[in-house]
Amino acid sequence: MDTDVATPNPYLSGPYEPVADERDDVGLEVVGTLPPQLRGTYVRNGPNPALAPKGRYHVFDGDGMVHAVQIRDGAASYRNRWVRSAGLEAELRAGEALFGGLSEFRLPPAEVVAEVGVMKNTANTNVLAHAGRLFALMEAAKPVELDGRLATLGEVDFGGRLHGAMTAHPKVDPASGELVSFGYSPVPPYLRYHVVDASGALTTEVDIDLPGPVMMHDFAVSATRAVFFDLPALFDLEAMLSGRPGIRWDPSHGARIGVLDRAAPHDGVTWIEVEPFFVFHFLNAHDDGDAVVVEGCRSERMNVTFGEDHVLEPVYPSLHRWRIDPVAGTVTETRLDDRLSDFPRHDDARAGRPLRYGYVGSMRPVGRERIDFSGLVKHDLVDGTSVEHSWADGGMGGEAVFVADEERDAEDGGWLLDFVTDRSGSTELVVLDAEAMEEVARVRMPRRIPFGFHGNWVPEAAWPA
Ligand SMILES: [Fe+2]
Repeated sequence: MDTDVATPNPYLSGPYEPVADERDDVGLEVVGTLPPQLRGTYVRNGPNPALAPKGRYHVFDGDGMVHAVQIRDGAASYRNRWVRSAGLEAELRAGEALFGGLSEFRLPPAEVVAEVGVMKNTANTNVLAHAGRLFALMEAAKPVELDGRLATLGEVDFGGRLHGAMTAHPKVDPASGELVSFGYSPVPPYLRYHVVDASGALTTEVDIDLPGPVMMHDFAVSATRAVFFDLPALFDLEAMLSGRPGIRWDPSHGARIGVLDRAAPHDGVTWIEVEPFFVFHFLNAHDDGDAVVVEGCRSERMNVTFGEDHVLEPVYPSLHRWRIDPVAGTVTETRLDDRLSDFPRHDDARAGRPLRYGYVGSMRPVGRERIDFSGLVKHDLVDGTSVEHSWADGGMGGEAVFVADEERDAEDGGWLLDFVTDRSGSTELVVLDAEAMEEVARVRMPRRIPFGFHGNWVPEAAWPA
């Protein structure tokens, strides 16, 4: 596939510039030593437009591309593939982009709408394994299944049981193995809650009332509750269909936090009004008596623009904690750190339970529009201390994933894996020991890997056949 994207857009150049090839490389150069306990595959998804975008490009628009680094016995190999969505296949047949994006929506030709719909399922945001299957996820559409060689198998609706979209941020409950999820929609019902059981069957789907259609990127899940943040990033379908940005920040809509009992999902959500703010990503949630405690990266308002509203001063997220008591009807909020950060992660085996450690990407603004991820901060959430590891020589990282070391009991006994690209455009998969926050290995990638969104570690035993 050719990539022809010379547009001077900050999200199509530098570390964001898409790559044009699909590769298979074995025997990657390793600097340092990959621990022998690391046996599995790091997969990461991100936007990588295959064809020159039509109209103004938004960083969320590009076709999904999954990068996979397989590690075994201290050696590493690399593979990457585009997610071959029905929309991308139609565009490749036409030899040009047919769909507009979030900043400048355009209806594709009628025959493409009939075949694919009005919007492309880019499946570009996250990639995770569940019940022996690998899914590429994008919040406005259904999951797209990939096989063990990253070939696209197609959209999944769990035997017709999934209506509407699925978030790119479902949570796996480590006790039950359930995939706890939701989907939002610009048309009613605006929100649905879903549970996919450990065998991969969708067993629960519940409609949830919201006052209006909002972009809800993530949610938080404890051992017993799901917590929804109804924040005023509103859809405007009319604006979108006329080619203007389809999402706008509207604090007059108000904001609410809702708590759902996972054991009684049909009993409704308890909502508590709060002052407007915005969160893209939550770190975790845990139960504390009647209350549920949530940590996440909060900003004053939506910190990604969709149109020409750059007159607004940029805002950036930092780590906060909310204590939400649905019985008392109260929410208290605490700022945990002043540093700019996002992409929070933790040991997934402790999801929904009280955590001691959380890991966030630290952010460095570049100009008014772009941010770079300059390092990782490890937070001790119990005693309030933190340790920062900065990428050398102005390197740009992203979200780290935590891989537990089965030979260590400590919560931070494991490694953090993150793609880091240096100023010369070389990318390495950096492996940090999470306990010491020191680098133990760097795997040199065969070429630059563009900045992307989310990924996961898939142990050998969980990789799809
Ligand atoms: Fe995300």
